[in-house]
Amino acid sequence: MKDNIILTGFMGSGKSSVGVRLSYLLKKTMIDTDKWIEEKQEMEISDIFSAYGEKTFRDMETECLKELIETASGQIISTGGGLPVKRENQRLLKKLGMVIYLKVTPEVVFERLKTDNTRPLLQVDDPMERIKALLAQRSPVYESCADVVVDVSDQPFEKILGQIKEAYERFCQRA
Ligand code: S3P
Repeated sequence: MKDNIILTGFMGSGKSSVGVRLSYLLKKTMIDTDKWIEEKQEMEISDIFSAYGEKTFRDMETECLKELIETASGQIISTGGGLPVKRENQRLLKKLGMVIYLKVTPEVVFERLKTDNTRPLLQVDDPMERIKALLAQRSPVYESCADVVVDVSDQPFEKILGQIKEAYERFCQRA
């Protein structure tokens, strides 16, 4: 088991912004699995989806996790929202470190992403319906993968960061 902090959760749950703030607070570097894939493929996520499809993108996420297990330690890893859905990725996440689930309501996701066009899965006629359906399907997976669940819908950043920092200190003592 490694000592990374892994941020999981739905699109728009704030994994990247929480991750950046956490990296300042804990003086750790941050890796983003979406960025890792984009750099490796030299393509944007939406182009990867349209050129190769979602299944291939999920395999790229698996490849990313396998490499991070070899190379990352004491880092913050922000993950794509669908990454934990694939069973193999759930096992790999556990090996990679302490898994945090940033829990958010569909309404907050909708508000944050209503003008975003970089998430291929939400480019549909009724994004709210899609958000609700995906969240209902994924919530049990996020919950079961997580060492710690943090409700982020109406908490200020300081509280969110405080909870993660405390949990990480406990995690490191245990390890
Ligand atoms: C996805 C979430 C995205 C990105 C891709 C698929 C998903 O990442 O990996 O568009 O399936 O939920 P963010 O959660 O960072 O938006």
